[in-house]
Amino acid sequence: MIQYDEQNQIFHLNNGEISYVIKITQELQLIDLYYGGAIDFENDFMDLLNQSNTGFSLQHPSGIPYEKMSMTYGTFGKYSLNEEAFLVKDKEGRVINDFIYSHYEISNQKTILTTLPSSYDNQKLSQTLILYLKERSNDLWIELHITIFPEKPLLTKHVQFKNKSSEIYTIDLAMSGVFSVDGEFDQVIAFNGAWIKEFTTVKNQLSNGKLSFSNYNGVSTHTYQPFLALAESSSRDNRGEVHGFALMYSGNFKASVEKNIYKQTKIQMGINPFLTSWDLKSDSIFETPEWISVYSDEGFDKMTHVFHDFFLNNVMPCYEENRLSDVLINSWEAFYFNIDEEKLVELGLEAKSLGVEVLLVDDGWFENRNDDTDGLGSWVLDRKKFPNGLKVIKEKTGLKLGLWFEPEMTHLKTDRIIGKNFSLTPSRNQFVLDFTREDLVDEVFEKVKKVISDFEIDIIKWDANRPISDLFSENLENQGELYHRYILGVYRFAKKLREHFPHLIIQSCSAGGGRANAGMLSFALSTWVSDNTDACERLRIQQAAAMFLPLRAIGSHVTASPNHQMLRETSFAFRSHVALFGTYGFELNILQLSSEEKEAMVKAISFFKRHRKLIQTGNYYKLKGNDLSTQDEYAHMVVSKDGREVIVGVFQIASKANWEGMRLPLKGLEKKAGYEIHGKVYTGSYLMRIGLHFKQVFTGVQSDIHEKIGKIGFGDRTSEVIYFKKCY
Ligand code: DGJ
Repeated sequence: MIQYDEQNQIFHLNNGEISYVIKITQELQLIDLYYGGAIDFENDFMDLLNQSNTGFSLQHPSGIPYEKMSMTYGTFGKYSLNEEAFLVKDKEGRVINDFIYSHYEISNQKTILTTLPSSYDNQKLSQTLILYLKERSNDLWIELHITIFPEKPLLTKHVQFKNKSSEIYTIDLAMSGVFSVDGEFDQVIAFNGAWIKEFTTVKNQLSNGKLSFSNYNGVSTHTYQPFLALAESSSRDNRGEVHGFALMYSGNFKASVEKNIYKQTKIQMGINPFLTSWDLKSDSIFETPEWISVYSDEGFDKMTHVFHDFFLNNVMPCYEENRLSDVLINSWEAFYFNIDEEKLVELGLEAKSLGVEVLLVDDGWFENRNDDTDGLGSWVLDRKKFPNGLKVIKEKTGLKLGLWFEPEMTHLKTDRIIGKNFSLTPSRNQFVLDFTREDLVDEVFEKVKKVISDFEIDIIKWDANRPISDLFSENLENQGELYHRYILGVYRFAKKLREHFPHLIIQSCSAGGGRANAGMLSFALSTWVSDNTDACERLRIQQAAAMFLPLRAIGSHVTASPNHQMLRETSFAFRSHVALFGTYGFELNILQLSSEEKEAMVKAISFFKRHRKLIQTGNYYKLKGNDLSTQDEYAHMVVSKDGREVIVGVFQIASKANWEGMRLPLKGLEKKAGYEIHGKVYTGSYLMRIGLHFKQVFTGVQSDIHEKIGKIGFGDRTSEVIYFKKCY
């Protein structure tokens, strides 16, 4: 998959799906010649160098106009006067910029990062190109790692800085790489958000200039997700070129897209350089987060499928028995802090009898934690609420046991928290522990380890409910290292958890959807995408998240009606249909459900159990919804990998008078195959061109009105889930 053309000094990574071409110039600089759909190895790409010169600019002995090219990993002042990918200074503050290509290596494996999460390749079929750059007069090295996987239109990139000298250098900027794409890309899609408003899709028109999205929360990323898609304005779900980028990082990140006067579009992603600098001491390394780049020439759907498969097989912890989620009930919206053994056992027994598999004890189990003003991080179980410990809940209910944690936080103002003189900006009455301190990470880990072992916990929900503000750590000489060292501490903790409890299931969460990123998902199997559990809001949020996160990773629960965040009423069926396209769980006091609702719950759980493999591992397609404006109709579907099973969910928020009806063309079917739906056989071509029909009949004088309510077209917030199979 990786070839080196010695004569033209060109590296070409090509797996039949994508090509990435890099040239070593006469000045020993690396420039990108091409990145996009696959182009045969036979071509030498040399015509691309043949550009008209750029006039009064930096001199280039070889005559290559660098301004019109894209540096593979460039720095300011060396053939470029742009904001390039990195910036290093020596101890006198001089910019060190004379990095030249030294040599390369092709390794038959995926590089695993030492300090940060990385994707893996269990099949050992990937290849990694490692390009070594050396500073001309300093023993300072940069390694560019680029991995290509067979048949996937996907690459991963990361960079390592190595100081082999006795000097100290400061890294002020170190992005995870640059991609320069050919084509008329002018749509930039990102996810903007806030608490209970996560994953709002923003679509920006790109003309000349730079668009950038950054996060400054330190702990989490509600504001922007470390994901970006770049598309042509003509690209649609199933056609056109699309590039998707996801960063495996949970801290402050920056993503930018720039179109210059020469019509080049460059994308960069990496650690946010704001208030960040790193002292690269003698004999040390600095790694940038891994960056995943996906290319699709068949629209957004294909990009989504490539991301989903990659998350499931190369990012998320991989062990067969937990590939699919258990049906879980969470105590939070059922009782909030007001939990005790009696209530949870009663809830658990009822849940078990209805088919639930796990009971997760959310916030409220620490001593004195009866609201959010006290008790956080004591790691002592409240014996008033739980006189017999927690294991007893598991024993009495027969359910697996989950437990909520917030390991990085405390409500105590001590010298162990981040912030100078403790004059901190308040946030939820809590403080961030100084996880830049490895000893503190290890100490908290020992406490957590004891709790997990003592109570035989199967699943943890790892929460983080305040941002870092008032930046200061007693532990650091260079405060510019705080944000990144903090996240390194978080990953150190996560790594220890995985090592000690290889089968522990981790759900990530940060005040809702603050940690819905590839970094956390390399330790966790799901992420709580929002504290907004209203089914209508969730349709939008979950569909947006599913643009790159697999449904296995999208935490989705049926909660009470009226909903606690939106005060909106919805039927049990509607809520359940929405939650089905995710991890499917419950978060309400089911003891208060009517007998009809409990009956519906039993049926819904057994339906989910029968189809969870299809839902969580099949190909997901968005059919309607999740555009910029608030949508009234949503629909999505999943087709199993073998193409034999299909599940469709259709949702209508408001009923309409004298409605024209809905024709819902499906996707991903075989044109000539037959599919049996409600006793009638349709071919794939019919279902994909014409689709399913939903209509309304005049209800004014109908006697069967109650049987119809809830079906699409009959009342507000209606939904249908249709499962069918291929019959020939
Ligand atoms: C925020 C989370 O998003 C909620 O689900 C819940 O766990 C609370 N924290 C508990 O404090």
